[in-house]
Amino acid sequence: MNDFNTSEVKKFLSLRKKLMVAILFASSFITSLTTAFHYYFEYKKDITYLNKSLNQIGNSNSSSLTRSLWNLDDLQIQVQLDSILKVRDIVGVAVTDEDQNVFYENKKTEIEEIVSFSRTFPLFLNPDKKVNKIGELVIWSTKAHINENLISRLTVFFLSQFVKTLIVSFTMLYLFRFLVTRHLDRIVRFLRGVDLNSLNIERLSLDRPAKTVDELDYVNDSINLILRRVERANLETNEKIKRQEKEIQMQKAASINSARLASLGEMAANIAHEINNPLTVLAFSGKKIKSLSEQEEVNKDRLVHFANMINRTIDRMCKTINSLKTLARDAEDDVYEMVNIYDIIERVLDLCQISIAQKGVEITTEFNDLPKSFYIRCKEVQITQVIINLINNSTDAIKNLSEPWIKIDVKERNGNICFSIIDCGSGIPEDIQSRVFEPFFTTKDIGEGTGLGLSISAKSAKNHNGSLLIDNECKNTTIRLEFPLGC
Ligand SMILES: Nc1ncnc2c1ncn2[C@@H]1O[C@H](COP(=O)(O)OP(=O)(O)OP(=O)(O)O)[C@@H](O)[C@H]1O
Ligand SMILES: [Mg+2]
Repeated sequence: MNDFNTSEVKKFLSLRKKLMVAILFASSFITSLTTAFHYYFEYKKDITYLNKSLNQIGNSNSSSLTRSLWNLDDLQIQVQLDSILKVRDIVGVAVTDEDQNVFYENKKTEIEEIVSFSRTFPLFLNPDKKVNKIGELVIWSTKAHINENLISRLTVFFLSQFVKTLIVSFTMLYLFRFLVTRHLDRIVRFLRGVDLNSLNIERLSLDRPAKTVDELDYVNDSINLILRRVERANLETNEKIKRQEKEIQMQKAASINSARLASLGEMAANIAHEINNPLTVLAFSGKKIKSLSEQEEVNKDRLVHFANMINRTIDRMCKTINSLKTLARDAEDDVYEMVNIYDIIERVLDLCQISIAQKGVEITTEFNDLPKSFYIRCKEVQITQVIINLINNSTDAIKNLSEPWIKIDVKERNGNICFSIIDCGSGIPEDIQSRVFEPFFTTKDIGEGTGLGLSISAKSAKNHNGSLLIDNECKNTTIRLEFPLGC
């Protein structure tokens, strides 16, 4: 009904799912980026703070340490350095003399093992002028606390960002579903179900609040507009098809009529020929009667003989003309009547014997012991037309063979009457057998055959609740008309 080709070749993934993946991806990326920036700035801040503290410690202790070093007061130096070492992040302290010899050193652990860096503060006797350097104060510090602190703070920051992202994403998805996708689902369901061939196509209605309009309302209106046009096109096509069907019917009727008239024309020529002979007989008999009556002694027997000849000839002519009249008309509306089987065949022969004989074809009949008083119920004209059609086909098929013959075989079988028209041909080729009953199928040259003979005949057989079929069991071409005796 509808072609949703895209969904047939590609896997369906709803907009909602696509949006969910996109939002999650984008928000995770943004969260990671903000966390990274946050980490960078916090780290910078902590390092600056640590440097400031170290400077403060170094500067505030250097004058007293200078004094203690000048006085070589070991104890004072040791107490002062140990108190510096107690400060967090400081992992080692040392005082060296002006020749870089370590005067006193104290480290919390092996400095190399922890991430550390050192700061050196020169010890001047005259710090204001920065002259008379007598040694250096070295402080080792670590960033381990900064890193630990930062990681725990960042974990909290990242988790809170992540939860926020999830809440925002699902809220957005819900809103998207509420505002967009449920309406899109409705549109898809509607389009899948709509019958585009109908003359009264259902319209789409999204049932949305009517205060404002948005894109979906435009889509709704556009779809309905298209459906209206499709509906109108369907109506027009429907009317066009009806018109064409009517035209085809009329053309068919005209063709059938012309086919009948064509065979009628062929027959008329035969009839004219047949009437011509009796006319000669009539003219001859008339002349004879006239000359006999002019004789002095009228030979009565001869007169009666020629008078009888005239009567017989006129009878025969009347019969032929009557047969022609009945055959020429449309027998569709005829009523069923009881007809003698021998009479039917006689009338058939009346109409076609001469033309058959002219083509050199011998025709015989076989009644298979059917009694002379055998009557069947049928539309006589239709049955006559069918048999003549079959005889004409046979004549056309075999006229060029040597010693051509046709046999009309009539028999009763299982309550059916069977008329078999057998000719000396060797059967209808198998590849065309299924088509010979189609209207307008012919193997004859253009203008020689309409291809309607067998299709009209098959219709007449069907009218009699019977059938017209090719009997392939017979070695010669055989077409059989068969219908129930009491049809
Ligand atoms: N007895 C036969 N022997 C061989 N072929 C036949 C015979 N009867 C019919 N056919 C084949 O069937 C075709 C269709 O026959 P049909 O009577 O329908 O049309 P037609 O004879 O060709 O034309 P029309 O009946 O208008 O003269 C013929 O063209 C012929 O090929
Ligand atoms: Mg024919």
